[in-house]
Amino acid sequence: MTCSKKLNTYLANLAVWNVKLHNLHWNVVGKLFVSLHEYTESRYDAAFEAFDEVAEVLKMRGEMPLSTMKDYLAVATIEEVPAQDYGCREVVEMVQSDMQLMLALAKEIRDDAAQSDDFQVQSLFEGYIADFTKQLWFIRAMTTGHGQACSR
Ligand SMILES: [Fe+2]
Repeated sequence: MTCSKKLNTYLANLAVWNVKLHNLHWNVVGKLFVSLHEYTESRYDAAFEAFDEVAEVLKMRGEMPLSTMKDYLAVATIEEVPAQDYGCREVVEMVQSDMQLMLALAKEIRDDAAQSDDFQVQSLFEGYIADFTKQLWFIRAMTTGHGQACSR
């Protein structure tokens, strides 16, 4: 069975990330405002959907998912940021580094699940890994090379 502690950390991260992505969605400023406003919305929608999926996996195996903001903040490894204006580059860099953190944790959980023949968690997290990998490619493509759109 997959370690429920890691699943709860992942769950807590999704809860904190959902709020943080809203913060960035509201407070991004600059030339890419519309793109990043919409992009962060697509990411908090994805985080919110996964939040429920991961909690329900814990319930299915008779575990109690963390269910209070206090608990989420106590165990989350994603860090909140203050409410203030954020330039496009800062937003992209925060989304990218949080996504790398989530990808690394998703890989750990997937690997643990594979080792214990926990196919439900393995296949759920394969999906998250595929999505983060694709999103990180989008972000790299947006921030490197000619005609770089994100200078602030
Ligand atoms: Fe909105």
